[in-house]
Amino acid sequence: MAIDQIAFRHAMTQFGSGVTIPVTVDGAGQPRGFTANSFCSVAMDPPLVLVCLAHGAESYPAFRDAQRYAIHVLSADQGPVALRFAEKRADKFEDEQWSTGEDGLPELRGALARVSCEAHAVYDGGDHAILVGRVVEAKVDETDGQPLLYFRRKFLDAAA
Ligand SMILES: Cc1cc2nc3c(=O)[nH]c(=O)nc-3n(C[C@H](O)[C@H](O)[C@H](O)COP(=O)(O)O)c2cc1C
Repeated sequence: MAIDQIAFRHAMTQFGSGVTIPVTVDGAGQPRGFTANSFCSVAMDPPLVLVCLAHGAESYPAFRDAQRYAIHVLSADQGPVALRFAEKRADKFEDEQWSTGEDGLPELRGALARVSCEAHAVYDGGDHAILVGRVVEAKVDETDGQPLLYFRRKFLDAAA
């Protein structure tokens, strides 16, 4: 018996998570990124993480083909940038919060952590692709900031 999509979505909203922004650069040199909460660590040896990306996302071809990408773990005050990257828009990176990291990929100021990855594998995940990245660099903002959390379709501030 197949569960209906509304019941499935509703159950998934009960799972609280952090929020991330994976970024890469496409074949034309344009920065690409999207908001994701499907991020998790996979393995220690080698150090692997994963994030799932919808085939219908504007940034899907760039991530499917990418050799490198970086994933930012957002801090409590980064709800606005999470909303911006959850929309299909051309001006996502036109903001002073962005610079270029040592890996040549966009870097978001104020994120709690940033992992820079080499593409390890892309697996079939139905209407999503499961992107598995091998972490080659990990940076943490050691100012003890609080995370941006997502629960029941809302952003929550852990400090509130
Ligand atoms: C909190 C939150 C988490 C999200 N997580 C994911 C995710 O893990 N995978 C995904 O494909 N889309 C996710 N989305 C939706 C994408 O961010 C959205 O479809 C966005 O438009 C993709 O950008 P693009 O179309 O420019 O690539 C999430 C949205 C929000 C608000």
